Amino acid sequence: MTKKRELSIFLIEKIREIVDSKLDKAGKLKGICKLLRDNVSHYDWVGFYLTDNTRENELVLGPFEGKPTEHVRIPYGRGICGQAVELRKTFIVQDVSKETNYLSCSPKVKSEIVIPIFENGEIVGELDIDSHTPSPFTDEDREFLEKVCETVSKLL
Ligand code: SME
Repeated sequence: MTKKRELSIFLIEKIREIVDSKLDKAGKLKGICKLLRDNVSHYDWVGFYLTDNTRENELVLGPFEGKPTEHVRIPYGRGICGQAVELRKTFIVQDVSKETNYLSCSPKVKSEIVIPIFENGEIVGELDIDSHTPSPFTDEDREFLEKVCETVSKLL
């Protein structure tokens, strides 16, 4: 088994423990962000955007780990996060300088992956990861992070 695969299995197990813990929802989401950021070297900013029950067609920033961002609210369709809601699938941008519909948080960010979180077929949030490494995201990242989002879905 590859090192990366072993790490994925270990992290999914840790995430299940966080989900089943006594922490409140925000504490669990924050704990998952920290776990991912601390253990995967190319995950430099890890955060959740959540759908907003009070304002339609907008995502609101939830718990995150990394530098604070000015993008606290993102309308559907705007940026990589907003596009991922409309695509209804994982959106990987290996080189953000080539993406015209992009909301920059820092010039250090070179690439980004956004994974929608579904509950009963509806998008309830997204996991957003920024990387300072160019083209770092593999099929293994996608599969792993989609599994993370399936595990997180019952929290939202
Ligand atoms: N870059 C995102 C905005 C959110 S930050 O990455 C935290 C986007 O284009 O939607």
